Amino acid sequence: MAQRILRPQTLHKTIPSAFPPTHVAAYRPVAISQCQIRHSSHSPLGTPLAVPRKKVTISTLQSLYKKDEPITMMTAHDFPSAHVADHAGMDMILVGDSLAMVALGMEDTSEVVLEEMILHCRSVARATKSAFTVGDLPMGSYEIAPEQALESAIRVVKEGRVQGIKLEGGLDMAPTIERITRAGIPVLGHVGLTPQRQNALGGFRVQGKSTLGALKVLEDAEAVQAAGCFAVVVEAVPAEVASLVTKKLGIPTIGIGAGNGCSGQVLVQVDMSGNFPPGRFLPKFVKQYGDVWGESMKAIQEYKSDVKSRAYPGPEHTYPMPAKELADFENLINSKAT
Ligand code: KIV
Repeated sequence: MAQRILRPQTLHKTIPSAFPPTHVAAYRPVAISQCQIRHSSHSPLGTPLAVPRKKVTISTLQSLYKKDEPITMMTAHDFPSAHVADHAGMDMILVGDSLAMVALGMEDTSEVVLEEMILHCRSVARATKSAFTVGDLPMGSYEIAPEQALESAIRVVKEGRVQGIKLEGGLDMAPTIERITRAGIPVLGHVGLTPQRQNALGGFRVQGKSTLGALKVLEDAEAVQAAGCFAVVVEAVPAEVASLVTKKLGIPTIGIGAGNGCSGQVLVQVDMSGNFPPGRFLPKFVKQYGDVWGESMKAIQEYKSDVKSRAYPGPEHTYPMPAKELADFENLINSKAT
């Protein structure tokens, strides 16, 4: 847990004088805001970025693209996962509807609803000080008509507090994208494998493997560009196809399972950080950079064993009491018992 520790001089002012300075450390002032000490774990996590950086805007992304500097994007679904991604310096944070599976335990993305996405967007937005934030429009919230999509997009921005939205689809979604961008909401496109349509695609299959399939990926990407998208996610497409599409476009492509020739990359945070039990299926394109599950498991098992053996809590984790007060208390209850 992030802790902002005040210097002892400051702390003395706020701690009852009965406690000598040696006990100040025992107070462990977790997340102090305006010198208020909270003797609980109900403390806000938000801390300023260790290395301050400017807010990432559409212009920042465009300038990265012009410089041919890869754009980094990562999913987050709540405050802690966004907090760490922002602190780690991600250019973009996506509240992807993959949260249906990784945060809500659903079978696929078709189950998650707009209200749930908005709740998660709000949480991510509170944690994100610098990265450009994008929220996914979930299945059912945008396909019926451009007006429906615009209403949903406005809610995601207004209530979810993110800066842009993402929706899946190519040529067929162009009028919808146009409607949303005309209202001043940045849209991130998503072509290639579009998981919300997995039933129609025959599962989570690589797209663009044939000449015609590759042409469709290109046409879709060009259509969402023409409709006003500021960038487009290209998912599960052969690397060569994604590279050629990237060269043909005038907006950044953000690849996932699409090789190294895209303008940027995105991964699902729980996948790349290893926040899942051993044996879980991982798509070929994922590189696992950490073992969050293993670390959490180790810590929780150690805690369990310490509690069982009474090694935790130790004296350093307890609140002191003046000896006289304690003696008086004991006398009091002992005299009451007789
Ligand atoms: O929902 C999601 O996380 C996504 C990314 C995989 C791009 O759409």
